[in-house]
Amino acid sequence: NTGMFTYDPGFTSTASCESGLTYIDGDEGVLLHRGYPIGQLAEQSSFMEVSYLLLNGELPSKQELADFTRTITRHTMVHEQLTTFYRGFRRDAHPMAIMCGVVGALSAFYHDSTDINDPAQRTIASHRLIAKMPTIAAMAYKYSVGQPFVYPRNDLSYTANFLRMTFSVPAEEYEPDPVIVDAMDKIFILHADHEQNASTSTVRLAGSSGANPFACIAAGIACLWGPAHGGANEAALNMLREIGTVDRIPEYIARAKNKDDPFRLMGFGHRVYKNYDPRATVMQKTAKDVLEKLGVNDPVFDVAKELEQIALNDPYFIEKKLYPNVDFYSGVILSAIGFPTEMFTVLFALARTVGWVAQWNEMISDPAQKIGRPRQLYTGPVQRDYVPVADR
Ligand code: SDX
Repeated sequence: NTGMFTYDPGFTSTASCESGLTYIDGDEGVLLHRGYPIGQLAEQSSFMEVSYLLLNGELPSKQELADFTRTITRHTMVHEQLTTFYRGFRRDAHPMAIMCGVVGALSAFYHDSTDINDPAQRTIASHRLIAKMPTIAAMAYKYSVGQPFVYPRNDLSYTANFLRMTFSVPAEEYEPDPVIVDAMDKIFILHADHEQNASTSTVRLAGSSGANPFACIAAGIACLWGPAHGGANEAALNMLREIGTVDRIPEYIARAKNKDDPFRLMGFGHRVYKNYDPRATVMQKTAKDVLEKLGVNDPVFDVAKELEQIALNDPYFIEKKLYPNVDFYSGVILSAIGFPTEMFTVLFALARTVGWVAQWNEMISDPAQKIGRPRQLYTGPVQRDYVPVADR
């Protein structure tokens, strides 16, 4: 009677948890955040507003959004001691390796001030994580290219601040193009949350033991890195670049269909979507808009569009219900903005942090929640007696 209802996608028996944040209907290609369709949020909202929605359950008033944004903005700086942490990494370290280490290290700075049983301290920890991820991500990029770190500014939006921290150098200020800021903000919205995916389930499982939220998010980052999950955006663009030209697509389609070949079309297929990933729809349109407005003619985009058309009309992909997912087109946009492929999954982790902390808060604030303890189907030997080594 409150407009709150439970969709039953028919697999209640295997559901790992109850959650009211995000609903996915994989057969219909539906994705809702607190009831709002992802397409509407991507086109009409902002990442700060979607973050507020995921954390609080309702879209904010103008004042609520202003207050939330100011709070996040005022947490964007990191402890100066954290900057020395980067210097322990090799310059060519993968930025995701740096993110795992640095975000986990935040526990050392905030462990004693994060009583997870105190809702107020949970909120502060959540705001700190959402606010500091852009700074930590930009620092990971700066470290990898040997440029000095750029401090956040309080007069810029969340996304413009991140772009400036990433691309500004002392010799030349980076003025974020509104087209790029809008595209980046849209990409953050599209990656914000996605129900109980592998990395979110990792954060929930780690958090269910009462672990420090900073350590839990570091665990989520580690899981997201895999090429079957968040690492697919980096792998998808590398694959499209390797294909290079439209005439080479059939060779890769054949490989993807060959059971003896471990090759998979990166950015295609999904554990839940057996229809078009609604995020991919927005991503393709955003890629077209950004390339046109920036005057970038990237042949990789043509390869991506042609590959999609061939795959969608191929009986194998139709039978297996394989469609482009969120990772298929995102790399085209990120590359046009100027990010190296190694940064793509870092950007996914930056955006997904709001979903991870919202899901963590939802779980921790449930008084009935217990430590996660998945069971198994045992396939090992039946009980037997020990044999001394002299008799083996
Ligand atoms: C993300 O869970 C989430 O919500 C994740 C995510 C999020 O927002 O958090 O949406 C983000 O991780 C998106 C997925 C990104 N990963 C990729 O793009 C990597 C390429 N995709 C594949 O590795 C694969 O599609 C998975 C891992 C995503 C899903 O693999 P599954 O579980 O095997 O998928 P499936 O059961 O639907 O596969 C059906 C069949 C299988 O063959 P059979 O066993 O029936 O013979 O299709 C095959 C698969 O082998 N298949 C593919 C394929 N994906 C599945 N064949 C070729 N190319 C592919 N991309």
